[in-house]
Amino acid sequence: MTRTTINTAYPQLRLRRTRASAWSRAMHAEHHLSPADFIWPLFVTSGSGVEEPIGSLPGVSRWSVDRAVARAKEAAAEGIPCLALFPNTPEDKRSDDGAHALDPDNLMCQAIRAIKDAVPEIGLLTDVALDPYTAHGQDGLLDETGYVVNDATVDVLVGQALNQAAAGADIVAPSDMMDGRIGAIREALEAEGHANVQIMAYAAKYASVFYGPFRDAVGSGGLLKGNKKSYQMDPANGAEALREVALDIAEGADSVMVKPGLPYLDVVARVKDAFNIPVFAYQVSGEYAMIEAAAAAGAGERNGLVMEMLMSFKRAGCTGVLTYHALHAARLLNG
Ligand code: PBG
Repeated sequence: MTRTTINTAYPQLRLRRTRASAWSRAMHAEHHLSPADFIWPLFVTSGSGVEEPIGSLPGVSRWSVDRAVARAKEAAAEGIPCLALFPNTPEDKRSDDGAHALDPDNLMCQAIRAIKDAVPEIGLLTDVALDPYTAHGQDGLLDETGYVVNDATVDVLVGQALNQAAAGADIVAPSDMMDGRIGAIREALEAEGHANVQIMAYAAKYASVFYGPFRDAVGSGGLLKGNKKSYQMDPANGAEALREVALDIAEGADSVMVKPGLPYLDVVARVKDAFNIPVFAYQVSGEYAMIEAAAAAGAGERNGLVMEMLMSFKRAGCTGVLTYHALHAARLLNG
């Protein structure tokens, strides 16, 4: 194919022309946000009629199952397609082996059943990792040296994913970063009759300081000693993220996630270019807190900050984004 190069330059070409009026800007926009781009993380706690605000996440609360159902209805009414559920497990249900993750009556399963029953039109994504259930706050099982062991952890994660699927989860999302867990979970889902349960792999999940408020929200922060650097990725690495993604796709992931979001948009763009599969980003708790703090400090207008951040995910190549701003942003978009 021959290409003609047109050496047009100023003043023949003025890129400001298409920006001069609102209708023209709308017509030339390369990306659009819609409520269908958002997955809304919800924190669930015990009891009924309970709302517990989370100090480090202003505007975000933990909800008892009945109140979470009400939030799910609001989300569905605004066109949000999916919720991500996270339990704040009672202290006395946490143990070294995280066994409560396998209990068909744990908070997560109660929430799944209640929301599916009342709001069947919304999708439910559930986190597969042991940190809300372990007494030590790590995502897996420890050996005597405190190292998080891989293969024995994968066995428990498989049980956790099956437990969530049996309760009605639509997408299981392993966030633990163990090797080989996607293949093991896919195989078990197929064997147990859950062929249509999707897997969204937290494929490139970094050992990040931005998770602090989340750990307060699920109550694992105070329990955690040390860090998660022996399984979550080193923020110095980009090429390694492509290897993680390639493995998770080969093992059967339907979609992959990059996490955190904004500091890792280069990774999103590289993954999208390399694999052209559905890529999601998790705009994590610390990112949300940063936006709220900036707005509170008068560093920017809140709605503008929220929407510009969310648009950055679309521009980088995301299919969608997990964001604590989901309901607020959906309401802004719906006018
Ligand atoms: C648990 C998990 C974490 C987040 C999602 N799933 C925390 C962690 O890995 O320590 C963080 C989400 C957020 O910060 O909003 N494995």
